[in-house]
Amino acid sequence: MENILLIGFMGVGKGTTARAYARRYGIYNIDTDDLIESRENRSIPKIFKKKGESYFRMLEQETADWIECCVRSTLISCGGGFYQVKNLKKLGTVVLLDASYDWIYRRLSTAKNAEKKLAKRPLFSEPKRAKKLYSQREKAYKKVADLIVNVEGKSMEEILEEINRGVRQLAVRS
Ligand code: S3P
Repeated sequence: MENILLIGFMGVGKGTTARAYARRYGIYNIDTDDLIESRENRSIPKIFKKKGESYFRMLEQETADWIECCVRSTLISCGGGFYQVKNLKKLGTVVLLDASYDWIYRRLSTAKNAEKKLAKRPLFSEPKRAKKLYSQREKAYKKVADLIVNVEGKSMEEILEEINRGVRQLAVRS
């Protein structure tokens, strides 16, 4: 099996979906933000604050290089900006989890641990700015995706099935 990369905007549910997919299909999953945090021994907000966004983007590229070299048959949930790494398409099948900005905002702000979910995302600190970022990235996400799964109004089971079916069809075609 090729790696599967889940990409998409902050708060669309990449991490939750990745964990459910891994459990359902018996594979391992890793998260690019977790890898970066453990390598730096600092949280994402602290990395942004102490070293700046461009340093974080450099760490994302290093993580992508490591994945290209060393990771196989794994589900990888990616930070919202990870789709910009140079070698994205060499890392595996790219699956976009897609939803409208309003749906994502509602999902994040009405979650049980909403404060925590927002606090760990420095680029979501101002909803206006986040909305602008969403509209800047919307087309780019779709451009790099091998498969687009709209998650709005779907159960987790439906989302998992759709990813699995789509990835299998792509594998047959290539
Ligand atoms: C970012 C998304 C975050 C994290 C960082 C930057 C982005 O990940 O990588 O705060 O540029 O969209 P999530 O998408 O998991 O929130």
